[in-house]
Amino acid sequence: MKGCDLILSSLDTFATREGDPAPGIYARLFAAHPELEALFLMDTDGGVRGSMLQQAFECLIDVAEGGRMAGVVLGAERVNHESYGVPDNLFDAFFLAIRDSVKASLADDWTAETSAAWTRLLARAGQASYR
Ligand code: HEM
Repeated sequence: MKGCDLILSSLDTFATREGDPAPGIYARLFAAHPELEALFLMDTDGGVRGSMLQQAFECLIDVAEGGRMAGVVLGAERVNHESYGVPDNLFDAFFLAIRDSVKASLADDWTAETSAAWTRLLARAGQASYR
């Protein structure tokens, strides 16, 4: 399978296995960076966290497919997130939390090829943001 297909297939399996992936992904993010949890105190209904995750998935799929949307969106969100109090070096932590959640969900279906495809994807997502 090509890298792009490996990413799409892993996301597809993840979506099938997890009803709502948001709680698990945010739990991972906050376990790795506890100070970030306080930024969502106002998000009582989880709406901001939900649309943030949706946007992140769309960006990852766009990067995998070689599109142009993610570069623009991530470039803008990096600037927005500075004003939310998210340090630039932690912006990509969300992508890592997503990757690790997909990996845990895939379990035995997470192959060396899938792992390599995700490593390349996250490196490109970091560059795609025009830092
Ligand atoms: C892949 C990286 C990320 C993307 C694409 C992203 C995207 C977004 C989007 C689209 C929103 C607006 C949601 C809405 O209001 O409907 C948002 C809000 C927010 N994001 Fe992120 N985000 C990312 C990483 C992070 C990280 C690592 C944190 C750290 C906790 C964070 C904290 C926040 C906060 C606190 C808000 C709410 C700001 C407010 O409304 O006051 N984001 N994000």
